[in-house]
Amino acid sequence: MSAPANINAKQPKTFAFTPENLEKAKWFIAKYPKNREASAVIPLLQLAQAQHDNWLPVAAMDVVAEMLEMPPVRVYEVASFYTMFNRAPVGKFLLQVCTTTPCWLRGSDDIKHVCKSKLGITDGETSKDGMFSMMEVECLGACVNAPMVQINDDYYEDLTGESFAQICDDLAAGKKPSIGSQTGRQGSHPANINQNGAKKA
Ligand code: FES
Repeated sequence: MSAPANINAKQPKTFAFTPENLEKAKWFIAKYPKNREASAVIPLLQLAQAQHDNWLPVAAMDVVAEMLEMPPVRVYEVASFYTMFNRAPVGKFLLQVCTTTPCWLRGSDDIKHVCKSKLGITDGETSKDGMFSMMEVECLGACVNAPMVQINDDYYEDLTGESFAQICDDLAAGKKPSIGSQTGRQGSHPANINQNGAKKA
């Protein structure tokens, strides 16, 4: 099943923030000076997407435009520019696989292979069971722990094909795999140095 990259054909007619999210939206808007409310467009779109199963229907973008007194097309432009906004449904777990040079050199092809062979998906696709969507993305700023994948809001780093496959199994089984480095290194310490700064044997 494909996850269309563009606007989804099936659109809900309406969208409304929950009372709690409406308060959050107002809080974001109040952070900016009068006549600069449009600066809150990204956090409001993030709120709307999080509320709506991780994708943004047109109705939600229109609500954001109205709240910020922006022409709707300006909001569509923002939502279509940033890859963090999904304008079509995605799986429960969105796998953003970094394939920029450092991650590629360190094995992102192995990650892509797991997506294809284990989950049956490539760039822009969603698995048949609706659990996983996959996107190839550019550098996510964690190159020192390459290769890495962002899954929903979390980074999984120092991956191998094997450890990534295990993470997918755990997520599908409802478990919460540990985020960050999968080899146990602390932050961005050199891979062959232990926590005390000594060289590993
Ligand atoms: S190249 Fe993959 S995080 Fe930078």
